Amino acid sequence: QAAIYRAGTYGRRPAVPTDGSRLEAAAERVMLRRAFAYVTGAAGSEAGARANREAFERWRVLPRMLVDTGERDLSLDLLGHRHDHPLLLCPVGVLSVAHRDADLAVARAARRYGATPVLSTQASVPMEVVAAELGGGGFWYQLYWSADDELTASLVRRAEACGAEAVVVTLDTSVLGWRPRDLDLGHLPFARGEGLAQYTSDPVFRRLVTQRVAAADPEELGSHPAPSPTPAAVRTLLSMSRHHPGSTRENVTSPEPRAAVDTFGELFARPSLTWADLPRLRALTSLPIVLKGILDPDDAGRAVDAGVDGIWVSNHGGRQVDRTVAALDALPEVTRAVRSRGSRAPVIFDSGVRTGADAFVALALGASAVGIGRPYVYGLALAGEDGVAEVLRNLVAELDLTMALTGCRSLTEVTRARLRLAP
Ligand code: FNR
Repeated sequence: QAAIYRAGTYGRRPAVPTDGSRLEAAAERVMLRRAFAYVTGAAGSEAGARANREAFERWRVLPRMLVDTGERDLSLDLLGHRHDHPLLLCPVGVLSVAHRDADLAVARAARRYGATPVLSTQASVPMEVVAAELGGGGFWYQLYWSADDELTASLVRRAEACGAEAVVVTLDTSVLGWRPRDLDLGHLPFARGEGLAQYTSDPVFRRLVTQRVAAADPEELGSHPAPSPTPAAVRTLLSMSRHHPGSTRENVTSPEPRAAVDTFGELFARPSLTWADLPRLRALTSLPIVLKGILDPDDAGRAVDAGVDGIWVSNHGGRQVDRTVAALDALPEVTRAVRSRGSRAPVIFDSGVRTGADAFVALALGASAVGIGRPYVYGLALAGEDGVAEVLRNLVAELDLTMALTGCRSLTEVTRARLRLAP
């Protein structure tokens, strides 16, 4: 942080505001209305998203004096790899609405600051392209378990083949949440056909689309409630197909883009998924498996019993269920459920983290690592790769500084003893 203050002394202004609220407000000024609504929005009355922030407000950090914190080490082992610090970049779909470099800009920024990006199934850039940018490793893949098992298997195999270090299965989006801002303005992936890069670059998905085109009466394509893609969507789909080796512009001729959006619409949700399906995923890959969206300690226990490698406590940033419990409030109980089974599986946390001090609180309440969602998307919208890098740099710097001022030399010293409930 000394370097950040020094830069300010010499008149160099940061590319993005350091404060979380000003960051969001600055992003709102540069983003398209519908894009900002998609990123910032949450389910229903957005009480779950507010609860995430209120939960942090209930905690106070207790500093310690005269501890030698001259040397601090934020590094940790996570799922078999060494990480420089405990911050992860959460999977966020349709990043192309924030910046045209989308997932590539995020990957580059993550590499600059030693953070692991978690690449979404709803990404704007195919995973192979991001993996090549990262040199074939240093990222996790987030899976939305498709209604089509063959497609799911194909996505997992591709992730493994291109160097993903873990598969994060997001369980809380078995159907898409009720999000008034998107409902009123149009949900971007559906309305514009964006965020489909992992699908349109997938051989199984492409086969399903081809079959659909061959079988359907052209008049019927698009009978799914999704409106037909706009010319912008067709352009997006065409450019996505260019990312995929072996695909040619001719592969994606009308009515393919429309059939692709319809096929995606049908395969996206899988509300029938149960614990009984997990062994099939285990059989598909030797990569560590992390379950994202766990809030109930009983679910955490089942996950440990099922032999998963990591638990990710999250309420999806309040985007799925209105009035959900705050993810932070669920964290201590989930951690207890995992540790009481003798499991050392990492407990990852996200939802509502806006500052380095927030990350400190989550770590003190038992998180092994902490995910950041919306803040880095705002950084991306404001200044592309540099914006994401600055958001990340600021969070790591503030976490490091908080550790210094609370007498914590390493993450193992960031414990519940460093917190008090607000009076
Ligand atoms: C998300 N999130 C998400 N999660 C996931 O597993 N796959 C995805 O594709 C997405 N997409 C997505 C888009 C947008 C715009 C947002 C804001 C979030 C949820 C994300 O991974 C994370 O759980 C939350 O964003 C964390 O909350 P905060 O940090 O945004 O409060």
